[in-house]
Amino acid sequence: MLTKLANTLVPIDPLLAKRWSSRAIDANKFISREQILSLLEAARWAPSCYADEPWRLLVCDKATNPEAWEKAFACLAESNQAWVKNAPLLILAVASPRFRHNGEKNRWAFYDVGGACENLCLQAASLGLTTHQMGGFDMAKAHAAFNIPEDLDCAVMIAVGYQTEAEILSEPYYERELAARTRQPIETNCFEGSWGNSFAK
Ligand SMILES: Cc1cc2nc3c(=O)[nH]c(=O)nc-3n(C[C@H](O)[C@H](O)[C@H](O)COP(=O)(O)O)c2cc1C
Repeated sequence: MLTKLANTLVPIDPLLAKRWSSRAIDANKFISREQILSLLEAARWAPSCYADEPWRLLVCDKATNPEAWEKAFACLAESNQAWVKNAPLLILAVASPRFRHNGEKNRWAFYDVGGACENLCLQAASLGLTTHQMGGFDMAKAHAAFNIPEDLDCAVMIAVGYQTEAEILSEPYYERELAARTRQPIETNCFEGSWGNSFAK
């Protein structure tokens, strides 16, 4: 099984190094209720502005609710459907754009949903599961399919499952699965003291 550990200048927490977005998911292994709860708890304990918890997570488990899973699957772009078909669990993350305490616009809502989703993905990695977040889906279709209130914003769909051998994938997904994971060098995105002054390694 491919591991694709992050290549770092100095050690980072092994869980962070290990998480990556595989597309090779075992269609025969399902996710237990307890595992799903563990993912939701991890998201729940993410920090958020005003402790508002603006994330809403819609779980679509192929094993227990195939109709909901099909509805979520039907919202995905074809390029995602090609490999997501094997994923036993789809989670739709939605942002509530107004603060609970005063109804004012929460401009950090999406930021907080991202944090909750990363918590969820890391918890999945800790459980030996793989996750793949996707922006490639029809948000209007998701709104309609699940009766999501109009003022909420779909953020991301997350495929969850057990990773399997890359050989189950056809092209171009097989090649993408084998490709090295890359990141911008630290100095490109990290500055020190003044804007544009690269952090010196
Ligand atoms: C908000 C978001 C949207 C993404 N959308 C897609 C997508 O629609 N399809 C896909 O195959 N991967 C998608 N990805 C996965 C990214 O391509 C992946 O995270 C990135 O290449 C880094 O790889 P890694 O997660 O393995 O480190 C998305 C990731 C994020 C965070």
